[in-house]
Amino acid sequence: MRPIKSAVVLMVVLGLLIGCDDEPEVTEEPDEPEEVEPEPDPEPEPEEVEDEMVWIDPSQDSADLLEDIENYGEWDHHAGVDTHFESGHPGDVWVIAYANEAGIETVEQEQIPVPEGAIFVKEEYDGDGVEDPSAVTVMAKLSDEMGDWYWLKSDPELEQVLEMEGMALEGTEDLGCIGCHAQDADRDYLMAPQFEVP
Ligand code: HEC
Repeated sequence: MRPIKSAVVLMVVLGLLIGCDDEPEVTEEPDEPEEVEPEPDPEPEPEEVEDEMVWIDPSQDSADLLEDIENYGEWDHHAGVDTHFESGHPGDVWVIAYANEAGIETVEQEQIPVPEGAIFVKEEYDGDGVEDPSAVTVMAKLSDEMGDWYWLKSDPELEQVLEMEGMALEGTEDLGCIGCHAQDADRDYLMAPQFEVP
């Protein structure tokens, strides 16, 4: 009896082992078709919208500054450059630069740091001969300290502020403006070559 019993046990065990080998294959199969379905997941567009430039309402500080520069069209041009000149900006950008009295004095007397109250305004045009500006940029000195500027980019009507990639171009913090103007940090961030300040 014993050898027969052992043989039966062995066959059962072998049978189980063989059976085990087959099992995973059987269980995997029904899962496969289901996993394919949830893949289509489109709409990468919301991110692209953030790259866009939009005009937004100005902060109170910006609104006050925009009121202060309302008549900038009557201001002088620094260093006698009273026409369009091709901007140092990349691309076909032409500009007209204005400064209030304090700003003009700053340039004439080569005052660095620029004193509090000086304001520089620059109209940007999308090319030579373009009649109307596309934007107005402003630098207003808040104190006599180097680098203490209020930066602002507004529409030509001085009503709204440009927002780029979700960041409003207004204020004193690290805007795109400062990154570029920092090249001339030793001239208190003034970049126009015509300023001829040391
Ligand atoms: C890629 C570099 C760059 C960036 C970014 C930039 N500027 Fe300028 N900016 C210049 C250059 C160069 C000048 C000198 C005049 C010219 O060539 O257009 C200038 C001139 C100015 C002037 C006239 C006074 C001066 O410094 O000569 C104002 C005002 C001004 N920028 C404001 C701004 C504001 C506000 C921003 C941000 C919204 C800004 N700029 C961003 C390069 C830049």
